[in-house]
Amino acid sequence: MSWMEEKTALITGAASGIGKATALLLAREGARVAVTDLHPDQGQLVVEEIQRQGGTAVFISLDVTREADWAAAMAMVEREFSNLNVLVNNAGAMLPKNLEDTTLSEWQQLMTVNLDSVILGTKHGLKALRKTGGGAIVNVSSVSGLSGHPLWAAYSASKGGVTLLTKSTALYCTKNKLNIRVNSVHPGAVDTAVGRSFFTEQETIRWLKPEDIAQAILFLAGDDAAFITGSSLVMDGGQHKP
Ligand code: NAI
Repeated sequence: MSWMEEKTALITGAASGIGKATALLLAREGARVAVTDLHPDQGQLVVEEIQRQGGTAVFISLDVTREADWAAAMAMVEREFSNLNVLVNNAGAMLPKNLEDTTLSEWQQLMTVNLDSVILGTKHGLKALRKTGGGAIVNVSSVSGLSGHPLWAAYSASKGGVTLLTKSTALYCTKNKLNIRVNSVHPGAVDTAVGRSFFTEQETIRWLKPEDIAQAILFLAGDDAAFITGSSLVMDGGQHKP
């Protein structure tokens, strides 16, 4: 039996990059996938690709910063697939600006997209996973969310927030015997449109592929990681300096 057989996964920001690679991989492993994003046309293409491969998927329009969208998305997952087993909080944005050049509104906007989103996703995800009787949440942070970065203070702070939100939620779930595991992945430079615009070639020792991150997410979401919770999995080809 495949790792994701008879499981349902909701992935945010799944119309491109890491989210898309994760949706395709989890579907290949047997999951029914809720592909969610801001962009329905691109998202629908991912759904069609999954269906061509013989998988099951639906597109759900979900702006991760809007709580009403989260409630509606979870209700749709319940209608379509009856329960949720895996939530991947992947959607995010980058701000390649140093602290002195960052305006308050840029900071606030980035925090909304990268951190409020994970709070909302986790809150609504826990409610759905409790109903299922357990499951897994995987949050996409960054190496910058562990070590900081000299040029990207706001981005690093937002991803640092994701790191500790992950650990706190994992502790909460264990303390309350919820049977829900919560982990984060911390990619280095990933070859997506956003990654290419963010990292310069000089900073980059080695590009990861979105599929590399998808494999880590699959592992953390699956039963082989049954005793792993609250962990931070770094995937950066050795560039990370704690
Ligand atoms: P991407 O731009 O290819 O994918 C991001 C997706 O999120 C897009 O489809 C976009 O439409 C969606 N999105 C953005 N705002 C949204 C919102 N408010 N609601 C719903 N969807 C929204 O970028 P990539 O590289 O795949 O990024 C995915 C995650 O990986 C992000 O959280 C990013 O911070 C993180 N990451 C990326 C790295 C890289 O080098 N590419 C390195 C470390 C972390």
